[in-house]
Amino acid sequence: MDLKSPETLVCLKGVRKTFPLPGGSPLVAVDDVSLTVDAGTAVALTGPSGSGKSTLLHLIGAIEKSDEGDIDVAGQRVTGLSGRALAAYRRRIGFVFQRFHLLPTLTALDNVMAPLIPFRTDFDKAARARELLAMVGLADRAAALPSRMSGGQQQRVAIARALVNQPVLLLADEPTGNLDSHTGGAIVDLLLNLRDEHGTTLIMATHDATIAARCDRAVHMRDGQLTTEAIS
Ligand SMILES: Nc1ncnc2c1ncn2[C@@H]1O[C@H](COP(=O)(O)OP(=O)(O)O)[C@@H](O)[C@H]1O
Ligand SMILES: [Mg+2]
Repeated sequence: MDLKSPETLVCLKGVRKTFPLPGGSPLVAVDDVSLTVDAGTAVALTGPSGSGKSTLLHLIGAIEKSDEGDIDVAGQRVTGLSGRALAAYRRRIGFVFQRFHLLPTLTALDNVMAPLIPFRTDFDKAARARELLAMVGLADRAAALPSRMSGGQQQRVAIARALVNQPVLLLADEPTGNLDSHTGGAIVDLLLNLRDEHGTTLIMATHDATIAARCDRAVHMRDGQLTTEAIS
């Protein structure tokens, strides 16, 4: 048994995000959210459409800026970062989306490599990408274009791409939302396997109660607020 106390990887305190509305009071998308996530755990973020799940993921990944509150990830204060430090932070976060967002004219291998292209690395980029494609079970599809792949395969490529910079945190926004339940289940198997084998920390927005129940924890959002926190 591991008796070490868990390490907090993500800590949110009083985080708030509003969007201006034309001619009215602003819309509060994330309202005073406080949350901690331990390293190496998989957390499901559930809640109805419009409850603020995507916005919260964007704030944690610093795709959007919060209006108030503090976000710390891996010991770094994310709120307030700008310029190069912000760009460097974003590269340490892996993002997986519902609609895969692969580049249609690039092969699977080139899609996985794409985030590395602007940078000098001390390892072989293609070799890293091949390794990741093998890890997601697509070693034999490296040369395929996204249009020739099933939805489940495309999401596997997107997951491999999200891992290419060895992120400290993986954020997944309804990663099974465009897949049938069988294929979606296999994608969740893959994500939870990354946690088991590599200690990847995962925060995953999902509508699906079955998927949420498979995570270590589920937190529920409603109208921008965290409501109950169920430990499964
Ligand atoms: N860029 C934006 N501009 C204006 N309103 C937004 C924007 N993004 C999200 N919202 C609003 O914020 C609320 C939360 O949205 P979102 O985070 O996408 O919820 P969820 O992912 O749970 O469906 C919704 O009311 C949505 O319309
Ligand atoms: Mg959403």
